[in-house]
Amino acid sequence: MDVKQAILERRSIRKYTDQPISDADINDILEAGLYAPSAIDLQHWYYVVVKSPEKMEELKQFMSDVYDKFEPVLLDRFKNNPATIAETKAFLKGLGGAKFVILAFLYKDDYPDVKGAMEGVCAGIQNMLLTAHSKGIGSCWMTAPMRVGMDGQLKEKYAAGHGEFVAAITFGYPAQSPKAPRRKEDRFIII
Ligand SMILES: Cc1cc2nc3c(=O)[nH]c(=O)nc-3n(C[C@H](O)[C@H](O)[C@H](O)COP(=O)(O)O)c2cc1C
Repeated sequence: MDVKQAILERRSIRKYTDQPISDADINDILEAGLYAPSAIDLQHWYYVVVKSPEKMEELKQFMSDVYDKFEPVLLDRFKNNPATIAETKAFLKGLGGAKFVILAFLYKDDYPDVKGAMEGVCAGIQNMLLTAHSKGIGSCWMTAPMRVGMDGQLKEKYAAGHGEFVAAITFGYPAQSPKAPRRKEDRFIII
């Protein structure tokens, strides 16, 4: 698939089918995450692939607790949009039926340029989303644990000895086809 097509077509998918994902596809997605640019080539990423049924159950329980803490924020932010609250609840509590999740962390906890390090990991995440999309696999980038102050627990549980939690990314074949949100005005200038 052409890169531009992948960029324009990719959407956040929060509900997945039961179709399994091959190990070859998981490896291709991971490889894309390892081939991102990074500041002075430090390759600041550390990815934990959660895919065994036991580990997925454990992660779902964790994210369910995240939702419970997040709910008051959502009730306020989306008071006129109960469907969004319901969707977020179903997604966080069941991970949308994702077949696997990649937890992205910083590799180390003592980078002098943490912002730069984060940017490289984010480039890796976007590479993985686009690679997944090019294979017909849906994904959703998720940072809700950070929003409710549970990112430290996630790090201790899955990446002790490494650096900060960056994001959780869910993957699975899409069971929904959301429309692209409208692009906001005034987001660039050419000088
Ligand atoms: C840094 C970041 C954090 C996000 N966190 C969440 C999240 O916690 N839960 C969620 O459902 N979606 C999350 N998203 C997905 C956004 O809601 C989504 O990208 C946005 O609504 C635009 O939709 P699109 O991805 O389909 O273009 C996140 C995306 C980014 C880039």
